[in-house]
Amino acid sequence: MTLIFSTNNKHKLQEVQKLLPASINLVTLADAGINEDIPETADTLEGNASIKSRFVFELTDLNCFADDTGLEVEALNGAPGVYSARYAGEKCSFADNVNKLLHEMRDKDNRAAKFRTVISLILNEKEYFFEGVVDGEITREVHGTDGFGYDPVFKPTGFEKTFAEMTLEEKNKISHRARAVEKLVAFLKSV
Ligand code: IMP
Repeated sequence: MTLIFSTNNKHKLQEVQKLLPASINLVTLADAGINEDIPETADTLEGNASIKSRFVFELTDLNCFADDTGLEVEALNGAPGVYSARYAGEKCSFADNVNKLLHEMRDKDNRAAKFRTVISLILNEKEYFFEGVVDGEITREVHGTDGFGYDPVFKPTGFEKTFAEMTLEEKNKISHRARAVEKLVAFLKSV
């Protein structure tokens, strides 16, 4: 089975590639000749995942999927959530977002947070959703250099290191994205 993964994020691509069985041939946007930046204008993860998968489906008519992820911080009433990519403003870097988060959290004792990923799959013209969540906490400083995004300040529950201190294999055993992809794979095997 061939599936296009609607992302320009190399880190996501690498994580997901390692989680898919060899029977699934993953095609990137670049491979599919799609170079547009897909606007994420919805106010839910489901909505944005859907925009990204439908964009590709409308151009190609091929089976495809997309993920949208948010970091939900309890003490910030669920922020940055669906706005995680642009938390520190349009065109901000991962470091800008992390710095803003640490600043907003400077006086908070409740450090609880979760990562949530929603995948939208379009298979034979029908859309399906899969969700993965991981609980954890926001550290007080950055730790580690691997991974991307908020990984250096997210410590999953039950672990003594952040996602950025883990190998890709370690992160892929427990992450929000891995959990959503596991559900996607189980579904693909069942159809
Ligand atoms: P999106 O799914 O690309 O819209 O991601 C939203 C934001 O969350 C981006 O700023 C990403 O850097 C961040 N993000 C998404 N997935 C992860 C992850 O696995 N670890 C850390 N940050 C992530």
